[in-house]
Amino acid sequence: MLINNDTIIKDNDPFIREKSMPVELPLSDEDRALLQDLYNYVKDSTDPEKAEKLNLRPAVGISAIQVGVPKQLTAVIVPTLDKDGNEITAEFMLANPKIISQSVQPAYLDSGEGCLSVEGEHEGHVVRSARIKVRAYDAITDQEIEIRARGYLAIVLQHEIDHFSGTLFYDKIDHDDPYKEIPGALVI
Ligand code: CO
Repeated sequence: MLINNDTIIKDNDPFIREKSMPVELPLSDEDRALLQDLYNYVKDSTDPEKAEKLNLRPAVGISAIQVGVPKQLTAVIVPTLDKDGNEITAEFMLANPKIISQSVQPAYLDSGEGCLSVEGEHEGHVVRSARIKVRAYDAITDQEIEIRARGYLAIVLQHEIDHFSGTLFYDKIDHDDPYKEIPGALVI
């Protein structure tokens, strides 16, 4: 599937608000191919030459609904730290990811969030959980996994999983007071 900034569905299209359905496991060839295309988009989007040539906006994640497929499939590639504090890249091709627990502590990105489906400016704190546990099938390792995510990775996973319910990041901004102080929040 050709995925670029022209083919990605934007928020002026009501389809972006559709609910995404779980996929059957084991993955069909079609679903696996789509996950691979989503992954390749994210990977290529962070290579400045490819991004320019192929009309890709840089991203750390993309979900199937954004390319017109209402299925619970998403790819994310996020720089993070391992448990010893070393820089690593967390990468997943997830089917049916589900948040099974989340911290009470909130978190937000200081610079706000962005989305391949959103071209307008929407500034403000997008309040999410600082830590989450996600259960999913991962097509990179081909197994059921549990991801304990914190910080940036946790934010990105929540953003992508929100796409399955048709929720966009700016739905979570307090429009009366976008930069309202969030007590106890982890600021990333
Ligand atoms: Co998005």
